[in-house]
Amino acid sequence: MVFHILTLFPEMFASVFNESILKRAQSNKLININFYNIRDYSKDKHRRVDDTPYGGGAGMVMTCQPLFDAIEEIKSKVKSRKFRIIYLTPSGEKFSQIKAEEYAEKIDEVVLICGHYEGIDQRIIDKFVDEEISIGDYVLTGGEIPAMVFVDTVSRLISGVLGKNESHQEESFSKKLDRKKEYPHYTRPAEFKGIQVPKVLLNGHHAEIQKWRKENLR
Ligand code: ADE
Repeated sequence: MVFHILTLFPEMFASVFNESILKRAQSNKLININFYNIRDYSKDKHRRVDDTPYGGGAGMVMTCQPLFDAIEEIKSKVKSRKFRIIYLTPSGEKFSQIKAEEYAEKIDEVVLICGHYEGIDQRIIDKFVDEEISIGDYVLTGGEIPAMVFVDTVSRLISGVLGKNESHQEESFSKKLDRKKEYPHYTRPAEFKGIQVPKVLLNGHHAEIQKWRKENLR
């Protein structure tokens, strides 16, 4: 999967993407993440990327020109037809595990537009955006954290990204449930400050362990 991230703050992504599983996935060429600083595309002499809204009102709106040029540049390089342009916004459709699975299965190149201020000029949405996505019913300062959530959630579903000790095979997420159920997890030591791990997990009896886990989903 190739991710193209349009942002005013590319440095925000470094620690999240350059550690652990996402770092390894990039080294192994399972995912590829590219950044485009929207300000670099501004033709304004002060490199401005926002302006006051027509019709008045609070806040600033991200202007068309830098976003248009950045998106056109990315589109000219895209090879796959399984390509989507996403705008991250609190008014978008709610992101979910099911949506992440759809992207991991069906799409191999995405553009993520990170908005700021009051949002982006509607003409960019109308011309380019395939889907508006929200990560939840709350308002963040910008689209960068939602873009990180999207990349992380989709990437771990791509074949080979998780090692066998990190596998999602056993997870009990069901398309019918809106909340993911998990059984309780324990690791060594078997007793910690007087609190015991359930005995059934220590006896190596696979069927009993499966039964216990099923009964203890929460
Ligand atoms: N930008 C600000 N808040 C957001 C949210 N909840 N989801 C996606 N993008 C956002």
